[in-house]
Amino acid sequence: MSLLADIQQVRAAFDRRLEAVRARPDGLPVAGTARAGQASGETVEHLRIAFLGRKGKLAALFARLGTLPKEERPEAGQQLNQAKEYFHTAIETVEAKMRPEGPAEEPGLDLTLPGDPIPLGTIHPVTQIEEQIKNIFLRLGFSVFYGPEVETEFYNFEALNFQQDHPARDMQDTFYISEDLLLRTHTSNNQIHAMQTMKPPLRIIMPGRVYRNEAISARSYCTFHQIEGLVVHRNTSMGELKGTLQYFARELYGSDTRTRFRPSYFPFTEPSAEMDIYWGLKTETDYRVTKGTGWLEILGCGMVHPNVLRAVDVDPIEWTGYAFGMGLERMAMLKWGIGDIRYFYEGDLRFLRQF
Ligand code: DAH
Repeated sequence: MSLLADIQQVRAAFDRRLEAVRARPDGLPVAGTARAGQASGETVEHLRIAFLGRKGKLAALFARLGTLPKEERPEAGQQLNQAKEYFHTAIETVEAKMRPEGPAEEPGLDLTLPGDPIPLGTIHPVTQIEEQIKNIFLRLGFSVFYGPEVETEFYNFEALNFQQDHPARDMQDTFYISEDLLLRTHTSNNQIHAMQTMKPPLRIIMPGRVYRNEAISARSYCTFHQIEGLVVHRNTSMGELKGTLQYFARELYGSDTRTRFRPSYFPFTEPSAEMDIYWGLKTETDYRVTKGTGWLEILGCGMVHPNVLRAVDVDPIEWTGYAFGMGLERMAMLKWGIGDIRYFYEGDLRFLRQF
């Protein structure tokens, strides 16, 4: 038989076996086909050896080249080279399909290994204390109201009865964004927003971040947090204020907590007071934080000044109110014995992980 015809036959044989390998590159029999048994065990590697190997079919055909008359050799040689090229490409294509996706050196996924632990964060102590305080007042029927941190003079001072040149403004120096826009110095601005948005009766607490232009030290920082409280209805009294805040102190610090009220001054309340809790004088730290008295101030409070009600068109004859405000960092420092306010803002995990 002529060499050219044999080349055609070998190519046809290659195609048939390639078909079987393509169907099952792993060499397993193809289910449900008549040729299943025959295809069994055939892999790409077998194919390569059978056709391209040193003793393979192609090599045998190449060996016959020399026996051909000179003039037939170029044509047969060309055919042989084409067949070789064709086998190579076909085998490489099948192999490429079998290769797993991704870089070959990547180790397989072992689903039986224990998972990597997902590092859980902790809740910031200021957020924790805010939640605790909020929950106490929510149980008393208060709801939560939020207002802006960037504020006008009107909401931060004027409507709260701070006159333009009142010395109380000096105690709350802040950061000005423009002539009239500033970062609020307290959450009391929300009293005004709340009474403009909602009609009395009101019973709300207003948490948020506040700002002051202060020298930074262990006790003061340029930003901190407060919770403000406001109750407006027809017959509030100093007695109701005291009862509410005493209940609050006992819920937060324990049922045997003693409280006392001292007269104080805030432009937006009249009368005004500060509430202290009895901290004790057992340790040296107790002496230091209570300045030797055993008592510790935790909040400011008072009956809402009639001018504040007038500023939001609430009739001070018909309505009365009381308000209070406290610093959250201070409450957290007391609760956990934290000695420096700056820890709250450094984001140091060694500090944060303790809560
Ligand atoms: N806004 C006051 C401050 O930042 C705290 C305060 C005192 C709030 C008395 C009140 C209040 O609502 O009645 O120092």
